[in-house]
Amino acid sequence: MIGVFDSGLGGLTILKHFLKELPQYSYIYLGDSARTPYGNRSQAVIYNYAKEAVDFLFSKGCRIVIFACNTASSQALRKIQQKYLPKKYPDKKVIGVIVPLVEESAKNDRIKRIGIIGTKATIASNIYAKKLSKLNPKLKIFEKSAPLLVPLIEEGWIKKRETKMILKKYLRELKTAQIDALILACTHYPILIKDIKRIMPKKCLIYDTGKIVAKSFKKYLEKHQELKINQSSSPICKFYTTYNISSFKIFGKKFLERKISKVKKIKL
Ligand code: DGL
Repeated sequence: MIGVFDSGLGGLTILKHFLKELPQYSYIYLGDSARTPYGNRSQAVIYNYAKEAVDFLFSKGCRIVIFACNTASSQALRKIQQKYLPKKYPDKKVIGVIVPLVEESAKNDRIKRIGIIGTKATIASNIYAKKLSKLNPKLKIFEKSAPLLVPLIEEGWIKKRETKMILKKYLRELKTAQIDALILACTHYPILIKDIKRIMPKKCLIYDTGKIVAKSFKKYLEKHQELKINQSSSPICKFYTTYNISSFKIFGKKFLERKISKVKKIKL
């Protein structure tokens, strides 16, 4: 069983690609919608929430948990991997979404100038800039936090004129910086990918986050056979939310692009 954790619904944009790329596995998705957005919270709070999510997913039989959430990946993952797992779950793994995105962008030598948009916490962590410049010190990096986008998307305001205007405003600096590529460092932003592509110049490469993460995860599983994650001809996919089941089903369908059943509400 593979656990996928997000602060809300956005991680379904990543799960969607796992289901395409690795359909032979069973998944448990946990969305902490009751406490979303994580992006405006402190590192200590995000770490505690992430720990609770990990405990829950391991208690349900997951052998590995993926933090689909960029905010949790940037603020809590390292500490979970280095301090929490060795003590409490030495045979289990938790991985995030940042390394695959960084590796994919750093290896493309056509990219000289790169932009990153994410939540306040992800951008404040500076993690993308640090990791990117380690792999490619010549890269010019431009970061922008876009804190209003998550609440607008969670509210279902995806097609509203106001959302497009705010998005345009957030992207203005990156457009002026003439970036060659843009990393959508937040689970929710792929939902706006068509608008982002319309706003940014054609030559700007916009990564399909979920696709890259899923491909990298496939390689990871091939390397880590010791995890012994069962494959099945009839895999299952279960969903847990900390908020409202019917809104998870209604809005989640947009993110996952398929009908969602088997949703349970839990308290972390
Ligand atoms: N899932 C978060 C991320 O990818 C966005 C939502 C939030 O702020 O909690 O950063």
